[in-house]
Amino acid sequence: MSASILVVSGSLRKGSFNSHLARQAVARAPHGVTARLSDAPRGLPYYDGDLDTDSPPSEVAAWRESIAQSSALLFVTPTYNHALPGGLKNALDWASRPFGAHCLIGKRVAVLGCSPGTSGSKQGVAYLRTILPFLGMTLVGEEVALPQIADKVNLETGWVNDDIDALLRETMRLLAE
Ligand SMILES: Cc1cc2nc3c(=O)[nH]c(=O)nc-3n(C[C@H](O)[C@H](O)[C@H](O)COP(=O)(O)O)c2cc1C
Repeated sequence: MSASILVVSGSLRKGSFNSHLARQAVARAPHGVTARLSDAPRGLPYYDGDLDTDSPPSEVAAWRESIAQSSALLFVTPTYNHALPGGLKNALDWASRPFGAHCLIGKRVAVLGCSPGTSGSKQGVAYLRTILPFLGMTLVGEEVALPQIADKVNLETGWVNDDIDALLRETMRLLAE
């Protein structure tokens, strides 16, 4: 499969810093590599084993198919109460079934996070990096948590500082390998 990267933000709000980084990552995919933004966490029902049949809800089927069509994923997420936002966790729960034969297995994956405060979303990033190998994914890149993000990006113009520009390019390059 030629490299195709699916980028997922853990934040749903319009003014999200993490979604901003997700969009900027897509824009920095290496030449010839397909990168797409997914808003799957927004549309999915809560995971329910009774709905997880051979004919799951259409949003679930589409989310799983978008992963199956990708060679790698990038998650960019805030931390909510020292853990993952519920929507992103729910999306992962749907993606992780059927057990042992799901769409995440064998995919390359990287995790970034940022916050306007001092933590940089460190807890959410660390938590996600802990569970992804358990789901059969191959982590690439380092643990990245970007604090005081409001000083480093501009949501209106799309600007990111030079360090973040380099980080996003390198992350997308690693995912495309
Ligand atoms: C429900 C909730 C819980 C949060 N918990 C934490 C937290 O545990 N640690 C932290 O540093 N920031 C926490 N924050 C602040 C987020 O880091 C901040 O709102 C951030 O901007 C969210 O990311 P976004 O800009 O991509 O939406 C929390 C925010 C919300 C809404």
